[in-house]
Amino acid sequence: MDGQLQLIRRLHAIAERDPRPFEEPYARLCAVLGGFAREVEQGRPVPAFDRGWAALVEELVATPDALLTLFPLHVQAFPNLPELVRSVSRAEPDPDVAAGLAEARRTWVAEQGDLTGDGSLLAALLDELANGDFAAGGFGLLGRYYRFRDALYGHLVDPAWLPVQREIFGLLARQQQNWTSGYVSGYAYQGYGRLGISGVKPTEHRLALWEVHHLLTPGTRVLDIGSNNGFLALEIARTAGHVDAIEYNPYLVLVGEAAARALGATNVSFICGDFTDHALSGGYDVVLSLANHQTTDQHMTMPFAEYVARCWMLLNEGGHLLFESHNVFGPGTGGPGDDGDLDAKLDSAARYFDVVRHRMTRSFVPGGNDVDKLFIDFRRRDVPDPGATRAFDLATATTRYAYDAA
Ligand SMILES: C[S@@+](CC[C@H](N)C(=O)[O-])C[C@H]1O[C@@H](n2cnc3c(N)ncnc32)[C@H](O)[C@@H]1O
Repeated sequence: MDGQLQLIRRLHAIAERDPRPFEEPYARLCAVLGGFAREVEQGRPVPAFDRGWAALVEELVATPDALLTLFPLHVQAFPNLPELVRSVSRAEPDPDVAAGLAEARRTWVAEQGDLTGDGSLLAALLDELANGDFAAGGFGLLGRYYRFRDALYGHLVDPAWLPVQREIFGLLARQQQNWTSGYVSGYAYQGYGRLGISGVKPTEHRLALWEVHHLLTPGTRVLDIGSNNGFLALEIARTAGHVDAIEYNPYLVLVGEAAARALGATNVSFICGDFTDHALSGGYDVVLSLANHQTTDQHMTMPFAEYVARCWMLLNEGGHLLFESHNVFGPGTGGPGDDGDLDAKLDSAARYFDVVRHRMTRSFVPGGNDVDKLFIDFRRRDVPDPGATRAFDLATATTRYAYDAA
């Protein structure tokens, strides 16, 4: 009982290392773990915890995708580990062979899920997640941290998330192996509470901070440029009429389609293509350009002036361009991800768009792994105005973390 209580408290402490009280799966996980702890303290059994934990351990140490994502150093040292796990998990018609494989798998799971010493995979993982420095090594540890927390969501909060999580994390693991310019060390860039996926950018919270729902009605046509996992497109599609989500990375397009199937969404078209030259229909009421006008993966290198001109052409009269910056604190030398030169970029944008309002949003992740971003709601000018000047400067904008009162 002591060991069980210790484990529940340890999981709770790990979950709380990056508190997201605004996110439903997080809030539910904390409540569930708190409830389990109280039951155990009163001497009562917690079969739901035991079942969920056993299934989680099995998933993490005995599925190739999870091994690849959560134990990259072990897989580097023993590259055939995922294959071994796959081979003991395979279906086998001969009952004697099947029984032997099942026994080998059980032994592997018991050994690698053992927390009494510090020699198992899971013991190493929990130690890293409880004590590792989020500031060290970029998104590696953070990605593993969220991947583990998402597993807690699926196994301890709502098992209905498990099938779609499995499908999506499987696609992200394939992306990590085959696509050289993925984001967040192969974990999910966008998160989605409705699927029990944290992500480094929590979709519902991000949208709530921007307060853009008044722009979306059942007739609104939206374009999402560089739609990544498609989660923002799917969330927006709950109130908009239709969303075209264009994304260059084919694995992420598959993620979006998997999420849409799981949610029963039918009003998002996932387009695998390059925004700079793909023939888009135009006629959009809202265009989303979120951290996308010049990407660090180097797949979007269009000059900014051409980029905003293309957004203008794709929008209907009176349409809105919802824009999120990259690093506005950058040196401004024009490299990918550097928006220290945003004043100059805003000069080009002013020809095509009026600024409706703007605000900074804080980085969503701990450890300095991301930066605060500037969000701007632009309204399309009916006619481009080459003499138009920008409405605000970057130095002032970077100090405003709320919209100005009207
Ligand atoms: C920094 S992420 C931003 C994702 C998303 N817009 C968001 O803010 O949540 C950039 C995304 O743009 C995609 N991308 C890069 N170049 C692209 C291009 N030329 N056309 C379409 N998508 C592109 C990347 O694959 C990646 O998913």
